[in-house]
Amino acid sequence: MSAATARAHPNIALVKYWGKRDEELVLPAAGSLSLTLDAFPTTTTVRLDPAAREDSFELNGDPAAPAQTARVGRFLDHVRLRAGSAVSARVSSVNEAPTGAGLASSAAGFAALATAAASAYGLPLDSAGLSRLARRGSGSAARSIVPGLAVWHAGDDETSFAEPIAGPAMRMVIVTVDRSQKPVSSREAMRRTALTSPFHGAWAVSAESSLRAMTAACRAGDFTRVGRIAESNALRMHAVIQSADPPIRYLTARGTAVFDEVEALRREGLEAYATADAGPNVVAIVRPDDADDVAARLAGLGAVQVVGPGPGARLVSQEEDA
Ligand code: DP6
Repeated sequence: MSAATARAHPNIALVKYWGKRDEELVLPAAGSLSLTLDAFPTTTTVRLDPAAREDSFELNGDPAAPAQTARVGRFLDHVRLRAGSAVSARVSSVNEAPTGAGLASSAAGFAALATAAASAYGLPLDSAGLSRLARRGSGSAARSIVPGLAVWHAGDDETSFAEPIAGPAMRMVIVTVDRSQKPVSSREAMRRTALTSPFHGAWAVSAESSLRAMTAACRAGDFTRVGRIAESNALRMHAVIQSADPPIRYLTARGTAVFDEVEALRREGLEAYATADAGPNVVAIVRPDDADDVAARLAGLGAVQVVGPGPGARLVSQEEDA
């Protein structure tokens, strides 16, 4: 019997992943780029249990919902296929993200699970291999394997993984305006957008060109260009989501107010840019020296927290039975 524990952090995309080219392999319609954060880790233990008839999954000390357990089980099936194993596992996970902040993400969850499961089942994988594996659980998890700024290539099954990219120093101010569960999951909303939005093709083309521009801006260390591209790309993603049928609106009036305030800050000379994932909460992208000032200005609109670049997924312990 063997067991392994791994820890990973969520990431916020500066160029968003929205849409799959292949659902089974979780290949994205376009590449994306994100910042892995230094907050809200998920720590996951995978313990092989030859006596167990099926996998079990405990989240924050309680048995997880059946749908979550099934998703973890499907992921482990893939790991077992690759490892040539038929042994079930007991998985337990602790997620330090505040409930409903939009950061209790599948990215940190599957990055930690992939890292722990690869070790427990004896799959020797480097960072690219772990990123490819994590991708099968949740696309954005491919990026949480990598520390700090990560670019995830659209590629094919072999080449679709994330790797580090240099960029300007930055912080993020997370503004939580709404803690309720989102009405439609990212996975379902992504599928609906691809199937029904007349703009989906244009979105995928625009995301690839945003990624090229973002990669160049990161390499040049150009904070202003990074921020501009990120804000525009986020608004385009929300536009394509809203154009699905039936429409999905993640950004509410309270989130839009944060975008307004960020624009007002820029007019005053305090440089900040806004982005939002598939949920109501907004993140301001700022230079490190401006983080506290921007956080103070946005505090009236929601609960604020300043975060920065964090580590990639890593093993924290391993046990091997004789
Ligand atoms: C809006 O990675 O959760 O956060 O691959 O279906 O599990 P699945 O989707 P997921 O989608 C994340 C979407 C996003 C944008 C992003 O992180 O790039």
